Amino acid sequence: MDKMWSGRFSASASSLLDQFNASIMFDRKLYLEDIEGSLAHATMLEKQGILTKEELKQITDGLNQVRTEIESGEFEWKISDEDLHMGIEKRLTALIGDAGKKLHTARSRNDQVAVDFRRWTLKKNLVLVEALKALMKEVLVVAEQHTETLIPGMTHLQHAQPINFGFHLGAYLSMFKRDIERFESSYERNNVSPLGCAALAGTPHNVNRETTADLLGFDSVSVNCLDTVSDRDFALEILFNISTMMMHISRLSEELIMWSSYEFGFVELSDEYSTGSSIMPQKKNPDVPELLRGKTGRVYGSLMGLLTVMKGLPLAYNKDTQEDKEGVFDAVETAEISLEILKEAIKTMTVKPHNMEKACAIGHLSATDLADYLVEKCNIPFREAHFITGRAVAKGEELGVDLSAMEFKYLKEIDERINEDVMPYLALRHSMNARTSQGGTATVRTLEQLEFFRAYITEQ
Ligand code: ARG
Repeated sequence: MDKMWSGRFSASASSLLDQFNASIMFDRKLYLEDIEGSLAHATMLEKQGILTKEELKQITDGLNQVRTEIESGEFEWKISDEDLHMGIEKRLTALIGDAGKKLHTARSRNDQVAVDFRRWTLKKNLVLVEALKALMKEVLVVAEQHTETLIPGMTHLQHAQPINFGFHLGAYLSMFKRDIERFESSYERNNVSPLGCAALAGTPHNVNRETTADLLGFDSVSVNCLDTVSDRDFALEILFNISTMMMHISRLSEELIMWSSYEFGFVELSDEYSTGSSIMPQKKNPDVPELLRGKTGRVYGSLMGLLTVMKGLPLAYNKDTQEDKEGVFDAVETAEISLEILKEAIKTMTVKPHNMEKACAIGHLSATDLADYLVEKCNIPFREAHFITGRAVAKGEELGVDLSAMEFKYLKEIDERINEDVMPYLALRHSMNARTSQGGTATVRTLEQLEFFRAYITEQ
């Protein structure tokens, strides 16, 4: 009968219940937020005349002692204490006696866990912003070196139009920037204090919620207590934000995997970030991007898991909510290591411009340019120009030559109106550099885009 809530019970909890009910094995990760929350709560209680100065001093010293014990590994985490909130409070009371029993005045574990988990999650939004910026920086370094390196731009995984590799990487920079904005906006929206909501309805004690909000670095105080103690949107948001970010990482990973195959040969991952085979001595496998692709699925699982936990819950707090933490912890940990290792893999990989450019000479990448020439110089309607170009492509297939290398005489045979000035239009680099519309692939445009991203990550 050593439970804090044992007053109304006459038999002890079974050890099976203890095992099933407890969260202390995982929520101990929130120990710092819990202690800081308690310190802020006690400080406010003293300001409001609910605790004496002496009691506040005892609580503060006691909590600092508990923190030292946790950080030195001395603290005993017991499953029978159920969760970290009760584990810490119990130890505090053992250390300081009666003053410890007053700490929970005007507070419930419901607003306590809401504070702890929210603050932990808010901080992680910002940690991930920094990690994303560090990744963007490495991607930028590679992109800036390759604004003139041709690579086949694809749709349907078929060669489409020549682009440059810097432009290709610029697409991922755009995605990562949006990811950053999502983490930042979640941080701002959810930076409201739950403390003082108590169990669900507020408290009759004369608390000051602004004081604790200030002490804990929240921007404001939540509006409705019933919502606050059961709101896990902040957890869902970080899971969604991580899922979207991992989806972007996974798409880049998929390309890195393809690009490191013999068929593409566009990049080679460094030895440091590649693995071998236990049987085939020649193998060099792209395990890093493969795992990044795989871990994306696992993160989605956590998002779907929590959405499902939340969907049928009547107001306000329900124990189901305790299932919110492990998925978020796992997703955040996965996101942190994923960003770090992707950054290193990109930093250390070798780009092979020669192979990229060679690949551009297959698949008639400048076909659109021939059609554009017919429209511009010969005044032929685009539909007809499309057809004539199709004939030129068919001729190329018949001759086994790419359109970019086709002799003028064959083009003239296809359509009389084609003149010698067509030749530059067929050149691959010309094709890439012709796309000067805003956001286009022309080197001048790519440089602008990369400058934009560089300014973005260095500002603030
Ligand atoms: N361990 C609980 C959780 O993580 C803390 C809140 C418990 N509140 C309660 N009334 N049982 O959700």
